[in-house]
Amino acid sequence: MRTKYCGNIGLIDLNKSIILSGWVNKIRNFGQFIFIDLRDYTGTIQIIFELNNSEIFQKALKLKNESCIQVTGIVKKRNIKNINSKMNTGKIEILAKKINIFNISEPLPIDYSNNNSDDIRLKYRYLDLRQSILFKNLKIRNEVTYLIRNFMTKKKFLDIETPLLTKSTPEGARDYLVPSRNHIGKFYALPQSPQLFKQLLMISGIDRYYQIVKCFRDEDLRSDRQPEFTQIDIEASFLNAKKIRNIVEQLIKKIWLKILNIHLKKFPVITYNEAIKRYGSDKPDLRNPMEIIDISDIINKIKFFDFFKINTLKNKTIALLCFSQGFKLSRKKINEYLSSINKFGINKSFYIKILKDDNNQNNIISSIKNILDKKTLNKILTKSNAKIGDVLFIVAGEENIVHKSLGKLRIKLGNDFLIFKKNIWAPLWIINFPMFKKNKLGVFSSIHHPFTAFKKNHENKFSRNLDYAMSDSYDLVINGYEIGGGSVRIHNLEIQKKVFNIIGINEKDQKEKFGFLLEALKYGAPPHAGIALGLDRIIMLLRNTDNIRDVIAFPKTTSASCPLTNAPSIIENKNLNELNININKK
Ligand code: AMO
Repeated sequence: MRTKYCGNIGLIDLNKSIILSGWVNKIRNFGQFIFIDLRDYTGTIQIIFELNNSEIFQKALKLKNESCIQVTGIVKKRNIKNINSKMNTGKIEILAKKINIFNISEPLPIDYSNNNSDDIRLKYRYLDLRQSILFKNLKIRNEVTYLIRNFMTKKKFLDIETPLLTKSTPEGARDYLVPSRNHIGKFYALPQSPQLFKQLLMISGIDRYYQIVKCFRDEDLRSDRQPEFTQIDIEASFLNAKKIRNIVEQLIKKIWLKILNIHLKKFPVITYNEAIKRYGSDKPDLRNPMEIIDISDIINKIKFFDFFKINTLKNKTIALLCFSQGFKLSRKKINEYLSSINKFGINKSFYIKILKDDNNQNNIISSIKNILDKKTLNKILTKSNAKIGDVLFIVAGEENIVHKSLGKLRIKLGNDFLIFKKNIWAPLWIINFPMFKKNKLGVFSSIHHPFTAFKKNHENKFSRNLDYAMSDSYDLVINGYEIGGGSVRIHNLEIQKKVFNIIGINEKDQKEKFGFLLEALKYGAPPHAGIALGLDRIIMLLRNTDNIRDVIAFPKTTSASCPLTNAPSIIENKNLNELNININKK
């Protein structure tokens, strides 16, 4: 139905007869001539219908935007004055000789020149995808998956599919459940990740596994989260954490080089504790130059302890952020920023604004100017490298709350004042996450998943002080997005049981939920490690969008529904009866 694609025609095709198929992008009727821009997935080209070719002119008169047609015509050079430099094919046009109308389109419910509501865009997703930007995202996604498959195959990883109808794998979200007709009252869970299957494959002796795979998580959605999303899932035996990171780093560098023509340098590696202390986040955006500065060593005099309320307990600290565009902030604005973080439960917050006096000396404006002696104040300014024009935001309180709140403020100031350097890539590895976190009731849960190994010797060293036990884990972060997470796995039955016990999974539940894994660990399980990367998030970064929906063909709304198909939908009683399910309408 075509001999050429619209976007691929050039001057070398001059005077050739070609056949094109596509959609009417734009129509202009000048009486003697009708011009249309014809579009296919490679681009657009101008077609001319002349009045003196009355048969096809009459047909062209019937055309509406977005109609689907086939045109046979001759490639012609445009007059110099008619060249359109905005179009790739702007130097040429097609003189139509024949037209075949496949389908006249009704007026579209989507207006490409305006902002359409999210609901309309998703309801008519197939029309929204006709927009070149979304289309390009899908094309890049295809290029990236091709690169990944190539790379992984060269590195001797086997692409192996794992089941979608399976048992729950805890990754921190709720499961999507599928009722079983054959086993009334029983349910499959859609996998939150193929975690346990890939570990079993290592026990099978599959040395290196990868899969580009759908995962399903019923959790609160955000602009970088979808209920079903795609992972590049990787696992290998006899490789340590560093080796896995190295392979993934090579893969990411290759993608950035091929897609963006950008050479990424070696990714920095920092520990979780350092990330929290310096950036107040385990996924810091390193394009933002601000770092949290601890000043508890300066405020170490008893006389200040009471004022800053850091006297009572250990784990209390005082730290600051030095904001170099502080001169732009009124006192009201500074206080607004401080109150935006007060909600995190900090004890006290203050600011110091450094202005210039008539003698070109520092003029300090601060509510704590009279509390601190000059020497202490100077030490704070020196440690934070503060200059005239800066504002220091100072927060005192419990260590993790101080870091978290300054971390949030760091992001907010970064966004509000665009202090991020544009067009810069800031990948980094965060390693050695704590093994567990404790809730208010003192109950532990895993920070990664419960199959994550302790850092060497930590299970013994910190057996009485599990808060300090670290895992042999790593996250890949790029420009503030968590792109991937992984770890060395537990390959020892006793340690796996011990971890289950620590997080409160009793023997009975261990057997019921993870009996197959515990059993498999008895039969010569090899040391193994792996990672999963979020494919959608990688494409988001490559395509410079902060909305994950832009890179998925048929995404869901924030309430996990699909306006296009109306899923989830009501199931007929006859199907529910087969499953022995009653809907409690209350
Ligand atoms: P994790 O849960 O960290 O690890 O997931 C790995 C990566 O998947 C992406 N991701 C998501 N992307 C879009 N929408 C979501 N709802 C979503 N959830 C996660 C993120 C994340 O870094 N089994 C482990 C991996 C392993 O240990 O090998 C796992 O799934 O980019």
